[in-house]
Amino acid sequence: MYTSIKTLAAAIVLPLVAALPLTQRDEAAVFDSSKPFTLHTEVVNATSAFNDQYLAPFHVGAALSTVVGSKNSSNAITWTLSDSILKQPVAISGAGPGFAYNLSLLDNAPYRSDAPSGYDYISLGVLYGATTGFYFNNSTLAWSGSNSTTAPESFDGCFALCHVNGTEPYFSLGPQYQLLWKTNNASSTSSNCADVKLIAANIA
Ligand SMILES: *[C@@H]1O[C@H](CO)[C@@H](O)[C@H](O)[C@H]1NC(C)=O
Ligand SMILES: *[C@@H]1O[C@H](CO)[C@@H](O)[C@H](O)[C@H]1NC(C)=O
Ligand SMILES: *[C@@H]1O[C@H](CO)[C@@H](O)[C@H](O)[C@H]1NC(C)=O
Ligand SMILES: *[C@@H]1O[C@H](CO)[C@@H](O)[C@H](O)[C@H]1NC(C)=O
Ligand SMILES: *[C@@H]1O[C@H](CO)[C@@H](O)[C@H](O)[C@H]1NC(C)=O
Ligand SMILES: *[C@@H]1O[C@H](CO)[C@@H](O)[C@H](O)[C@H]1NC(C)=O
Ligand SMILES: *[C@@H]1O[C@H](CO)[C@@H](O)[C@H](O)[C@H]1NC(C)=O
Ligand SMILES: *[C@@H]1O[C@H](CO)[C@@H](O)[C@H](O)[C@H]1NC(C)=O
Repeated sequence: MYTSIKTLAAAIVLPLVAALPLTQRDEAAVFDSSKPFTLHTEVVNATSAFNDQYLAPFHVGAALSTVVGSKNSSNAITWTLSDSILKQPVAISGAGPGFAYNLSLLDNAPYRSDAPSGYDYISLGVLYGATTGFYFNNSTLAWSGSNSTTAPESFDGCFALCHVNGTEPYFSLGPQYQLLWKTNNASSTSSNCADVKLIAANIA
């Protein structure tokens, strides 16, 4: 009796899984947050130039970057998630094995930028304390305030991609899409910014 129920269940489940659309099967099965991954934007409420931008590093100083958008996936940062911190493993001579830059959300506006008020700076490097509380909900990056002691008080998990007039100290490189985090009192009407989800995919 028991065996025949299990057999019946298996007979039903297999065709159901096979009948799922390919994309849904892929997303459910494929992403593994214990392995390295890229992140790209998915605009929350529109499709636009802000969509499908890979998070890429923009060097701003010794062992310090900020994060920008690039349509070219070859430029994407290779991320790992550990201890609820987003990290970029890097090889630097003299550094120990597993050395990595940490993602840090800073409580200040990007310097000399025309980013709208309330959209604050993100650092990837060694200088600032790591921001904790990140996890994955399937392949979508999520953040838990109750698991984070190091995030700015006005972070509620929302990231934005903003088209800005450049990034200190390399304004000469010109305007770009920069990843910023949104304070909970930021203006939501700027046409230069889009709220984004960050979607992960393992590196092939
Ligand atoms: C992940 O995606 C699968 C398939 O779409 C869904 O069944 C599952 O509930 C999702 N997990 C979470 C935590 O939302
Ligand atoms: C999404 O955009 C539509 C059309 O502009 C608007 O009516 C709606 O309020 C927006 N929703 C959110 C969650 O921003
Ligand atoms: C993408 O970036 C890679 C590495 O930086 C570069 O070699 C390649 O030419 C770029 N592709 C395009 C289409 O710009
Ligand atoms: C960027 O725009 C802001 C606001 O208009 C301006 O104050 C700032 O000087 C600009 N930055 C550069 C490097 O031009
Ligand atoms: C990254 O953050 C972790 C946890 O706070 C810390 O132990 C580590 O030293 C940091 N790494 C760097 C390169 O700052
Ligand atoms: C995961 O995402 C789904 C769909 O957006 C949402 O309903 C659910 O609450 C999320 N779960 C967690 C643990 O974030
Ligand atoms: C919060 O941290 C606890 C303990 O480490 C962990 O079990 C739980 O899954 C975390 N929750 C989220 C949403 O990351
Ligand atoms: C937004 O909130 C932050 C922190 O609570 C505060 O410092 C800032 O002045 C507020 N900005 C606006 C425009 O209200």
